[in-house]
Amino acid sequence: MIEDLSDDEARRALPLKWEDPDTVPAWVAEMDFRQAEPITQALVDAVRDGALGYPPHADELGSSFADFAHRHWDWSVPAEASVPTGGVIAGVRLALEVLCPPGPVVVPLPCYPPFRDVVEVTGREVVGVTVDPDSEPAALDLGQVEAAFAAGARTFLLCNPHNPLGRVPSRAELGALADLARAYDVRVITDEIHGPLVLSGATFTPYLTVDERAVLVTSPSKSFNMPAVHGAQLVVLDPDDQKALRSVPIPAQNTWSALGVVAGTAAWRDGDAWLAALLSRLSVQREVLEELVADRLPRARMRRLEATYLAWLDLRAYGVADPAAAALDQGARVAPGHDYQPGLDGHVRINVATSPDRLEHVVNALARAVMG
Ligand SMILES: Cc1ncc(COP(=O)(O)O)c(C=O)c1O
Repeated sequence: MIEDLSDDEARRALPLKWEDPDTVPAWVAEMDFRQAEPITQALVDAVRDGALGYPPHADELGSSFADFAHRHWDWSVPAEASVPTGGVIAGVRLALEVLCPPGPVVVPLPCYPPFRDVVEVTGREVVGVTVDPDSEPAALDLGQVEAAFAAGARTFLLCNPHNPLGRVPSRAELGALADLARAYDVRVITDEIHGPLVLSGATFTPYLTVDERAVLVTSPSKSFNMPAVHGAQLVVLDPDDQKALRSVPIPAQNTWSALGVVAGTAAWRDGDAWLAALLSRLSVQREVLEELVADRLPRARMRRLEATYLAWLDLRAYGVADPAAAALDQGARVAPGHDYQPGLDGHVRINVATSPDRLEHVVNALARAVMG
């Protein structure tokens, strides 16, 4: 069911990821797989019907997400809790501007780089709390979090599961964060775009199930490989919050795409079989990477990937500050660790959602880059 794209197909389908003809790309979070047939069908039907008008006020995104959440996570979330938006980061910006007080925002580091940008774009200050690169598991330091809250931060930006660490926090950890958030009247914005991408061995907890005041921002765009359709949703349980988000003026909301709603609804409603096949394939890719790293980069450290298709590799033992830059010269593009945590040397993020051959090429290139 998971169809690999050839190089030529991938260049057409994923032009940003594949823009450099001289490197095998394992950087941006897109998968070298053809999208799920129900999504293709829904989009083709919509375009054939000429459904290129403005998106309607009422749509099925909320109910299809609610059904998905119930099937996958045994979570009952009302359909009306979902408010469509154009993208996850656009949704985080809305959440900050509409539902959060001004003032500093706590962001665990390393983080998906636009987390820092979106906080700054809204005129707020990032307070980084650092996940120790040597900690096992890569858990939040709640002492640092509490210190940031005690110093005045009233907003926390969570990534659950975590990109780039590939980790799924336990319900107990999320509950402890929720307790702190309640104690300090902190609003948690939780980006759960990687929620459906939890691999065998880990269990995903929607953060809203431990903290009803949180703002969830999600999209099927990552799990179903379709950022081009520009569709995401905010999910808030309080009717006043829903109303506040729905009444944002168009120039501030940046609107969303009718085709994003079509594709998103199809993904949440009809994508289960494809998603199950994808997760099996990603588990295989995880093993391929583990074997390659053990064999070609024996001094590297890598925690087991629990979710996402983005592996975080610690290459500090090789003493190369920027292994991603060195790998470019060897024909592979991976994401540099310092993009996720300024000043952090010796780390890279590798996208494993590709063919085993390409993954081998990437690991070999990294090995040449750090060992000469
Ligand atoms: C954690 C996280 N949030 C958001 C996004 C991007 O979402 P969007 O393009 O909808 O803003 C990504 C993309 O990789 C991501 O990893």
